[in-house]
Amino acid sequence: MLDQRALPGEERWIRCESVGQVAEAIRSMAVRGAPAIGLAAAYGMALADDREQAAALLRGTRPTAVNLAWAVDRCLAAGNVLREARRLHREQEAADRRLAELGAERFEPGDRALTHCNTGPLATGGYGTAGGVLRAAWQHDRLAQVWVDETRPLLQGARLTAWELERAGIPFRLIADSAAGALMARGLVDRVVVGADRIAANGDVANKIGTYPLAVLAARHGVPFYVAAPVSTIDPDTQSGERIPIEERDPRELGSGPDAFNPAFDVTPAELVTGIITEAGVLELPYEESIARVASG
Ligand code: MRU
Repeated sequence: MLDQRALPGEERWIRCESVGQVAEAIRSMAVRGAPAIGLAAAYGMALADDREQAAALLRGTRPTAVNLAWAVDRCLAAGNVLREARRLHREQEAADRRLAELGAERFEPGDRALTHCNTGPLATGGYGTAGGVLRAAWQHDRLAQVWVDETRPLLQGARLTAWELERAGIPFRLIADSAAGALMARGLVDRVVVGADRIAANGDVANKIGTYPLAVLAARHGVPFYVAAPVSTIDPDTQSGERIPIEERDPRELGSGPDAFNPAFDVTPAELVTGIITEAGVLELPYEESIARVASG
């Protein structure tokens, strides 16, 4: 796998030959993004001698993104794990393509979109979720420019989204996370589109820390706020956002002492979400109903 910790400075590849190495790559965020860690875990399961033990190890690496546990469960139930991992990979690619097209329909020519964290190919192993929507909108001439949040503390926006957009030839400008409000107040943002790590049955969305304040700002300024995610990110067994486990990472990631507090995700209440763009359609309020429809297949 491409070591995302080294980007954009260096394209370094890691070879994993054991479940333990895959678990460590996920924990240390060499691979990251909800769908991508699900796929990494699935390929990790294919390396396991003891599947139950491997499943427990992989599930324990990062708690918030439901795609991880979901992919592990799919592999536990499969006859041939490698074949299942490849199937999951193909399904992810297809879901990304479809939701990107559906999301792009919500854009209008000239739109300036703001995004947070990284949700492109690096984060999904496919075309991207929110990042895929931006790509498709660009291809359909419905996007003028992307505002890219730095995404502190690990800078997924500044390091990874900027790297992807540059390679895709999509115009973007990097901004400090704290600049979003000022930009919206000046009328420089036409829509916000972000990914998700877990969507509860009521439509509450867990995503990278800093997403919730964007949703509040978007509501204040009348800017549509979209979440793009595959159906596998929806967790119908988790009733609401307060039940979503929020990963707390090493305080040293903040560049400070051990007393710093470093929650990696926050929860955006469903009422602030204009639409949830999935491969099964764009879900809208009331989310209990629209989510129940897609979750039941
Ligand atoms: O901690 P990370 O970098 O794994 O967090 C990633 C995000 O929050 C993404 O927005 C989310 O996983 C969706 S990726 C398509």
